[in-house]
Amino acid sequence: MADILKNVSIQLQREGEKPLYAQIAAALKEAIDAGQLPADSRLPSIRALAAQLQVNAVTVVNAYRELELEGYVWSRTGSGTYVRSQPAGETARQIFIPHQGINFASATPTPEIFPVGDFKRLLNLVLDRDGGHAFGYQESQGWPPLREAMQEYLGQIGIAARLENIHIISGAQQGIDLAAKILVRHGDTVLVESPTYHGAIATFRSRGARILAVPLEPDGPDLAVLTRLLRRHRPRLFYVMPNFQNPTGYSYSRHKKQALLDLARQYEFTVVEDDHLSELHFAPAQDRGPLKAMDVHEQVIYVKSFSKILMPGLRLGLLVSPPPFTGAVGAAKQYSDISSSGLFQRTLDLYLREKAWQQHLQAMRATYGTRYRTALEALARHLPQFRLTPPGGGLHLWLQLPKGIDGDQYCRLCLREKVLLTPGSYFSPNNSYADHIRLSFAAVTGEEITQGIELMGKVLKQIHAPRTLQPLL
Ligand SMILES: Cc1ncc(COP(=O)(O)O)c(C=O)c1O
Repeated sequence: MADILKNVSIQLQREGEKPLYAQIAAALKEAIDAGQLPADSRLPSIRALAAQLQVNAVTVVNAYRELELEGYVWSRTGSGTYVRSQPAGETARQIFIPHQGINFASATPTPEIFPVGDFKRLLNLVLDRDGGHAFGYQESQGWPPLREAMQEYLGQIGIAARLENIHIISGAQQGIDLAAKILVRHGDTVLVESPTYHGAIATFRSRGARILAVPLEPDGPDLAVLTRLLRRHRPRLFYVMPNFQNPTGYSYSRHKKQALLDLARQYEFTVVEDDHLSELHFAPAQDRGPLKAMDVHEQVIYVKSFSKILMPGLRLGLLVSPPPFTGAVGAAKQYSDISSSGLFQRTLDLYLREKAWQQHLQAMRATYGTRYRTALEALARHLPQFRLTPPGGGLHLWLQLPKGIDGDQYCRLCLREKVLLTPGSYFSPNNSYADHIRLSFAAVTGEEITQGIELMGKVLKQIHAPRTLQPLL
């Protein structure tokens, strides 16, 4: 047995019902959980372990793949498979933003297009109308007129929600947190798309959940892997972003949306839908409605953020709960922050009723549509080696780097040129996507996009020139 496994017992029952690869994976998981295989240790090569256990190499490949999907190990082509550190808790990730740099890492829209004038006027209206009441404690479930305005807005995007199931929340991050609090107990299994939004991974981990990754394809989750994981693990929930996903920008096809709902019914799990960008579409498409609009059997908790399409500092969002969860969501919200800001809820209520918001959305689509096209053109010109699926909306482009280029290293080199990008590994629940980066065009002008992508092209050329690579090694 290879040295690393000297304290690990792998007893295979060759006539047993459990497949051999699952037995190997289970023994290794147990050893990792027990601390017998420390973080960062390298597992034996596939060939070595297969020879040692007298099994087929494919059996070991499958065992390692299962461990990777479940976040126990990570692998790098040509280098090996390593034990992943099992997080006791998350620390907030911070990215250094260079002064005067070109910021393709920020997913926050440019403040210049926030409707500040409208909010200034409406804030004053609220203060004149409601005086000190705007500063009192509010109903946990939300300011009733705002909930009515939200009901109308939901109707416009195809969601027929009853008023009692609509909750005003302090942003989508709180929505994810509330869903986790009411659904997830320590040791429960939670499914996430891979790659996915880091803030959601951190929330589920803080609940002690075991997080399993479902690979995301350009038209939605890999249904074969999803079905396999459902059969084996019976998760409590699946956290998804069916429109303009973060970080990939991908949107689910109607077929995959329906398949997901069917599976949720069959395997009795709740879908948590995070809708933060669906309004930001730049190309006509048929399937852009929220999953919740198709949710006839009430299996979806719908979480809506207004941070990207309006202003993040409002800290307002909404959550639509299936009726059985309404009481639990209300209680979790109350014990979380009592209520969202009364002043901002009242102001947003007036804003939505004035319909200024539809004009704002159109302006957002025009501004970001132009930035999106500029980015695609610049990529085609300066970085034709990068692969991507144009998402047709949202704020992100998910770029696959040419073979052999590491995303973390590429981002570090770009940072030297004051171009800030996010490495793909940042979005992975199991340390994959080392060969991807996310480029967001939320906080950059057209000029910066062209200039930044040209610089990215130069960095790629430097990497391909061996002499300039030397000092980095
Ligand atoms: C996918 C996704 N969900 C939720 C959030 C948090 O949004 P909010 O500001 O509404 O809490 C973000 C923020 O970047 C996000 O990207």
